[in-house]
Amino acid sequence: MSSTTTSKTSAVFDISWVRAQFPSLRLVVNGRPAAFLDAPAGTQVPKQVVDAISNYLLHDNANTAGAFVTSRRTDAMLASAHRAMADFLGCDADEVHFGQNMTTLTFAFARAIGRELKPGDEVLTTTLDHDANVAPWRALEAERGIVVCQADVRVPECTLDMDDLRRKITPRTRVVAAGYAANAVGTLNDVAEIVRLAREAGALSFIDAVHYAPHGPIDVKALGCDFLVCSPYKFFGPHMGALYGKREHVLRLHPYKVRPAPENLPDRWETGTLSHEGIAGVAAAVDYIAGVGRRAVPSIPAGDAGRREAILAAYDVIREYEGGLMRKLIAGLVAIPGLTFYGISDPARFTWRVPTVGIRLARSKPAEIAAFLGERGIFTWDGNYYAVNLTERLGVESDGGLLRIGLVHYNTAEEVDRLLEALRELAT
Ligand SMILES: Cc1ncc(COP(=O)(O)O)c(C=O)c1O
Repeated sequence: MSSTTTSKTSAVFDISWVRAQFPSLRLVVNGRPAAFLDAPAGTQVPKQVVDAISNYLLHDNANTAGAFVTSRRTDAMLASAHRAMADFLGCDADEVHFGQNMTTLTFAFARAIGRELKPGDEVLTTTLDHDANVAPWRALEAERGIVVCQADVRVPECTLDMDDLRRKITPRTRVVAAGYAANAVGTLNDVAEIVRLAREAGALSFIDAVHYAPHGPIDVKALGCDFLVCSPYKFFGPHMGALYGKREHVLRLHPYKVRPAPENLPDRWETGTLSHEGIAGVAAAVDYIAGVGRRAVPSIPAGDAGRREAILAAYDVIREYEGGLMRKLIAGLVAIPGLTFYGISDPARFTWRVPTVGIRLARSKPAEIAAFLGERGIFTWDGNYYAVNLTERLGVESDGGLLRIGLVHYNTAEEVDRLLEALRELAT
């Protein structure tokens, strides 16, 4: 494999440079280099993220709004991290809310949205979703008499059944909660259309972009969604969550908060003292992605002014590079005897997926495959990864779920070859 690939736009993606940014990729397991194919559960972090976290703790560590230097630096860092995340999402800085993780943020916002709902109002979720965008809405069923409905998937392609979704949007629908990309099988949803349908019905759209964020650019203004959540630890940052909330909603809704905490945005939603060091790391993760874009297109202006453009350029080359790995991976997998592939396998439809795949082998349970691969230094995942609606629908929940292989832009063709070789060995 050549270490540098050039995309159609002649922008450069330099895999050697990328891998050199991630010290943890040097791990060796049982004498073999580790192959991190576990990205959907959390990605590795580049050195600049580690440095940002440790620099914050070494030099700026304080609580907010104090009359001394480290507190002022903390305030400045938090403001700058909101701007970075706003560039990542395509919104304004005060529409970005950091939190512990996506699940905690979604419970908090679902509860606040629930204050405006009446018994009999409906929330539409999907069978493709991670439970973090299902359970917070289900909690409202018991608490407020809300009815939660679920749009089905088409199997075995594991694509959202848009006809079913359209049918299940009724005059009582108040929220449509859907994923951008499916964490179990990699399907991309037509999020723009889902948001449009929700808006047309007078419902709010709540989009889970956790699985999409490492693979493609997010533009909340172009989508027109009301809320969008993601988790920086899935896109090369530390363990945190981040939420975009359209200004009119985050001003109108009432957060569960302590009385002395400020009422301004975004503070009113950022409950308690957050992980400041984590937030410093999130900003560095966004800057890392922008750095990939700047390397690909050196003419992009340096500094904050060019950051959004650099992020978009990064995702151009990332998508192209990941697309090559995905084609190789899926072609190799479907040729393995006794392998069942769940999800889109037709290359003509690969624009509707990211490089995360779910499989089963006839002769080994997913947990056995994961352990076999783990011994060889190949990290995958087995089970339901909390996408339990889907594993139940596929009839695999009570039989070990699926084996998930997830690639991101720091993976290589050699790693895909190693995985395929190991799976072939196990299958035959
Ligand atoms: C698609 C998706 N949504 C939500 C979550 C939950 O994210 P968090 O761990 O930040 O709560 C995950 C985590 O795996 C996920 O993959």
